[in-house]
Amino acid sequence: MVDAPDLLPLALEIAREAGALARRRRSEGVSIAATKSTIADIVTEADREVEQLVRDRLAAARPGDGFLGEESDAARSETGVTWVVDPIDGTVNYAYGIPHYAVSIAAVTGEPDARSWRAEVGVVHNPATGELFHATRGGGAWLGEQRLAVSEPGPAGALVATGFGYDPATRAGDLDRVTRAFELARDIRRAGAASLDLAFVAAGRLDAYFERGLYPWDHAAGGLLVLEAGGRMGGQPDGAPGRTMTLAAAPELFERLAAVIYR
Ligand code: IPD
Repeated sequence: MVDAPDLLPLALEIAREAGALARRRRSEGVSIAATKSTIADIVTEADREVEQLVRDRLAAARPGDGFLGEESDAARSETGVTWVVDPIDGTVNYAYGIPHYAVSIAAVTGEPDARSWRAEVGVVHNPATGELFHATRGGGAWLGEQRLAVSEPGPAGALVATGFGYDPATRAGDLDRVTRAFELARDIRRAGAASLDLAFVAAGRLDAYFERGLYPWDHAAGGLLVLEAGGRMGGQPDGAPGRTMTLAAAPELFERLAAVIYR
């Protein structure tokens, strides 16, 4: 039996330590270690080092838990808990020195698949600003002491964030969806870190967010923040967030935006 509040202090402690390391490495200068799916999809030495730190700390504190991270091999869970981790979400921002990137750590139970998992804990930490968002299942979403709630847009329309994958072949479709989203949007944002986009939806700083091409580690922690802030989180083709589409908003806006971007 997993108790989400028990996992939270560990997630917070590791996020802070990982964030401090990412920030220190950023100040020392960042080197690109490799490219991944396309030449624009980069991984820095810091991504790998921060993921290793998170992995080591989790393994020491909770041996037997599973691990699903962006930069290393997955490990199956023996306890029912799997940690879903993006060590540095917003790697391109990080590489360019834009202070908008995050350590994203979630604990899920069940298979580590967004179609069926139960997210227990989600922590999203931007070390450049110090902001640390957290949520536990049934315990609400928080930024420090402040409880978060999603927003409904006013008469001028919704402030809608999106993102673009690294594959140039998908850009035309992405831009078509942005054009359609403008039917409901007062303006569009593309800030470059999916976990923070989701945290900002939870905080009411954005009314909605959608993106094609996300991986579980991009949305696991931020998705729980949205749900616990009263929002709705979903996607296509089966209603779960994932590579085909991830969509987050307050419930009424979610329906209207889905109708527009799935058209
Ligand atoms: C990326 C960021 C970006 C989003 C991409 C993600 P990474 O994650 O979240 O905002 O548009 O789809 O892959 O590669 O920086 O961890």
